Amino acid sequence: MKAILLAETHQPVQYVDTDEPTIGPGEVLIKLQAAALNHRDVFVQKGLYPGIKLPVIPGSDGAGMVIETGEGVDSSWKGQSVIINPALNWGPNPKFYGADFQILGMPTNGTFAEYLRIPTDSIHHKPNHLSVEQAAALPLAGLTAWRALMTRAGLYRSSDSSAISEKVLITGIGGGAALFTLQFAVAAGAEVWVTSGSDDKIEKATEMGAAGGVNYRQADWHKALLAQTGTGNTTGGNRGYFDVIIDSAGGPGFARLIDVAAPGGRIAFFGSTTGNITDIIPSKVFFKQLSIFGSTMGTLGEFTAMLSFVSDHQLVPVIDRVVPLSDTEQAMQKMDAGSQFGKIVLSI
Ligand SMILES: NC(=O)c1ccc[n+]([C@@H]2O[C@H](COP(=O)([O-])OP(=O)(O)OC[C@H]3O[C@@H](n4cnc5c(N)ncnc54)[C@H](OP(=O)(O)O)[C@@H]3O)[C@@H](O)[C@H]2O)c1
Repeated sequence: MKAILLAETHQPVQYVDTDEPTIGPGEVLIKLQAAALNHRDVFVQKGLYPGIKLPVIPGSDGAGMVIETGEGVDSSWKGQSVIINPALNWGPNPKFYGADFQILGMPTNGTFAEYLRIPTDSIHHKPNHLSVEQAAALPLAGLTAWRALMTRAGLYRSSDSSAISEKVLITGIGGGAALFTLQFAVAAGAEVWVTSGSDDKIEKATEMGAAGGVNYRQADWHKALLAQTGTGNTTGGNRGYFDVIIDSAGGPGFARLIDVAAPGGRIAFFGSTTGNITDIIPSKVFFKQLSIFGSTMGTLGEFTAMLSFVSDHQLVPVIDRVVPLSDTEQAMQKMDAGSQFGKIVLSI
């Protein structure tokens, strides 16, 4: 089969011919039709990920058709269009994954290939309203966004009896996971604001339902953001606006999130694109009674809840571009440059 191989870190991925996988009991063989990139794939290639084991076929996101079922698997899966949950073996504790937890695409071979072997409990019926490319864009980033926003930060939904519309800030809106967070929060009835390094991306986010946003490249962007919300341009005392903040940038900018959080606010983060968090003033966190949550991927229950929400609200993932599998290295470079808006999808 054709596949993408990452043989060594700091090297381009290669488009190669390799053996088709053979399935075992409890597994299915999927003919992949589309896959999607995540920043994780780039971090692994650059040697910036813990526990790297190579060579590997990268890729956590994919959608396709079941073409073979292993021993003990319901044969009616054969011929079904499926999407793949890349959070393998989460385990029984919803608060934290177990020792066997893995993310598809390293160390196990992933979705940048024509065929994939995968345990049956990792496949789910493709939402009917999505094309195979749109479905492939959803799993990892959608799951991460869902757990961070709904489970960890505990966003109130307009369907809740409280009918509170919370104010949400999402940083770096051009990111894949950030865009799903925007779609989920808007669909849940929240008032959503964004940051981005690109005014054009802020404009696009506004077209998707965001109330507004600021460019994080400007000095004192946090003051400009508060001014836009009408909260005033001071960050002194207990001022702040956002009930929920979802971040994946980390770095020095994280301290500004403390400034713009409303008293009692919740901040959930799942990435550190810009490095270590610095300069947080502890008293700002405790006087404001803030809660800060780390989040990673999600449980099987969260994956199915996310899929139901996507179907109920007919949400469609934002796709920056679809490129052939043979162009994966260029796609990785594009993701590394960060100029995309939405997911980069590989057609297979
Ligand atoms: N823990 C997990 O389970 C998990 C899951 C998914 C992702 N992640 C992490 O989350 C991060 C995003 O992943 P992704 O796949 O969504 O990546 P991505 O699509 O490549 O997005 C990265 C985004 O980071 C934003 N960014 C860059 N500098 C920033 C800054 N100074 N302040 C705010 N935002 C900034 C950019 O937003 P603009 O383009 O708008 O400027 C860029 O689009 C990565 O660090 C990734 O490893 C973690």
